[in-house]
Amino acid sequence: MPAKEDLFTPIHKALRSMIYGLSTRLQTNDFANVAVSTALVTDLENNFAAARSAGCVLCVLSQHATDEETVIFPSAARTDGGLVGQLIEEHHALTRQELAIAERAHALLKLGSADERVSAGIRLNQDANELFAAYLAHMNREDTELVPAMQQRFTDEQMLGMRGRIIGQMPRDQLFFILGWMVSSLNVTELTDLLATVRQGAPPPFFQAVTELCASKVEPARWAEVTARIGL
Ligand SMILES: [Fe+2]
Ligand SMILES: [Fe+2]
Repeated sequence: MPAKEDLFTPIHKALRSMIYGLSTRLQTNDFANVAVSTALVTDLENNFAAARSAGCVLCVLSQHATDEETVIFPSAARTDGGLVGQLIEEHHALTRQELAIAERAHALLKLGSADERVSAGIRLNQDANELFAAYLAHMNREDTELVPAMQQRFTDEQMLGMRGRIIGQMPRDQLFFILGWMVSSLNVTELTDLLATVRQGAPPPFFQAVTELCASKVEPARWAEVTARIGL
């Protein structure tokens, strides 16, 4: 019987929500306004070189690919080398797009006139749309091709070990930043399962911190349903 663990779908839901939110901000931003544009660019690519910084969307997208390549792909490549090789190629292309967007965003803020910034903002939005389209297609490929392949090849315990390694190497601020997006992006059943796993496997203070995060991030009706299901 295939395993049930899925290392990709929950984090991809979080990344999709981040992408949708940033995309909305990008296409409605007034690039003539320096203050709001600076805030937007900061969230987009703040400290891009330090890819572990929390709060930067491009950093999180980049770090996610690194986590996959260092923890998951080496094992998956032993049996599904062709697919993993293609996914790594896609990572490289995504990185090139991310770096170009980060450069373009920086350059935009240095422009002297509102008209120039508005023109550059149109191009930035178009480039971001291309990146997001490619990133969404890439995640879908991992969900639809790699998840079932890994469920055939690995046990749930092996995959939980991989997830534990990714979480274990994340600084706490980054972990809670991503968890905040994840818990607000999961459906009731997924969130109930996630909390049951955390309650079973993590120290009580960590479980407490995650439930407090959920209370502040998850839509209230959904959170009420989850707390009823897990008896909080
Ligand atoms: Fe990936
Ligand atoms: Fe991924």
